[in-house]
Amino acid sequence: MGEFVPVARVSEIPDPGKKLVEIEDRLVAIFHVNGQFFALDDVCTHDGGPLAEGELDGYQIICPRHGARFDIRTGEALTMPATEPTVAHEVKVEGDTVLVRLRE
Ligand code: FES
Repeated sequence: MGEFVPVARVSEIPDPGKKLVEIEDRLVAIFHVNGQFFALDDVCTHDGGPLAEGELDGYQIICPRHGARFDIRTGEALTMPATEPTVAHEVKVEGDTVLVRLRE
């Protein structure tokens, strides 16, 4: 398993808000909701839509392409047309730094 890598400052992502980052050539969407941070692959499992460009609705991100909803805490696909989860990564906060460890 990889290391935690710093991806953002706590203060640079509004709450609620999001940021797209790149970790080891992988695009990852970072979400900030209710004081907590979450990280998902920036890939909708329906047809590859860029989740970081979607709209946040509580703990859900809405794919900008065809509107599938994913739970940002788990990556679970909640509505059609997506049926498979997207990958959720580990996140921790140290001081003002948000760190992510890729899950696979
Ligand atoms: S690509 Fe995301 S809902 Fe179709």
